[in-house]
Amino acid sequence: MTVYLNGEFLPKDQARISPDDRAFLFADGAYEVLRAYRGHLFRACEHWDRFDCSLKALRIASPANTDFAAIASELLKRNNLADAEAIVYLQVSRGAAPRKHAFPADATPTVYAYVAPFANPVEKWAAGVKVITLPDQRWARCDIKSISLLPNVLANQQAQEAGAHEAVLVRDGFALEGSLSNFAVVLDGVLHTAPRSNYILPGITRLVALGLCSALGIPVKEFPVAETDLKCAAEAMLFGTTNEVMPVVQINDLKLGDGQPGPLTRQLQQAFRNYVEECQRRG
Ligand code: PDD
Repeated sequence: MTVYLNGEFLPKDQARISPDDRAFLFADGAYEVLRAYRGHLFRACEHWDRFDCSLKALRIASPANTDFAAIASELLKRNNLADAEAIVYLQVSRGAAPRKHAFPADATPTVYAYVAPFANPVEKWAAGVKVITLPDQRWARCDIKSISLLPNVLANQQAQEAGAHEAVLVRDGFALEGSLSNFAVVLDGVLHTAPRSNYILPGITRLVALGLCSALGIPVKEFPVAETDLKCAAEAMLFGTTNEVMPVVQINDLKLGDGQPGPLTRQLQQAFRNYVEECQRRG
């Protein structure tokens, strides 16, 4: 496996990062995850814009002369994934410096990227998944795609241990998003999803899905759903780079509808797949 580190493409087992790197000591960095559909980087511009926003919010200087799109394409080529389903991971940390909380005066950001083959979760797409609700224990800047993900990791682990696919995080009584995905429910024929705020990540899949809803005439309310209203949901779904549109058929012990993915979810899922295929064809 060839990875990218600080301007170089090299075998992963030769990549060396200092133990003083602030990613290691403080989780002081930001990241992005994109899908590459047969070499096509899905909605890359939106991912680069969000990466830029995350780095700006963390006051990490965007590394000079670093073309993320070119790095991603080169990694796909070098790893024989240019014609396959893959994910692309990119991370920038504030760099290596002796451990002090405040910013170091002269650290150079560490830039790391890798690609990996990705198998579409086709069985889960067909059958739908279970989610559990958990208290949202994250900070108040969930809009930043920071590598500081411990609350997400703990929530996701708890979901796996409960036999669930994802944990839906609840803050102040509202189900906001998943540990690695956005969340939506259908109530009275209207798709409800939390509005953009500092309490959710502005997901690119969510953005595309809302655009598709508008094209399909599916009514949308960008309004957070109270946890107590989840029992009234006819359908629910997750949006995310790895999930695409993932039907949710069970929330905690509650089965939604007849326990099968609902019609609106199916419609949106198919529209998303069609859109991906169209993007692939266009190259
Ligand atoms: N997670 N919300 C959170 C907390 C996320 O971590 C993610 C993505 C999303 C969906 O965003 P997008 O549609 O842009 O992937 C929402 C990635 C996939 C991850 O951490 O691996």
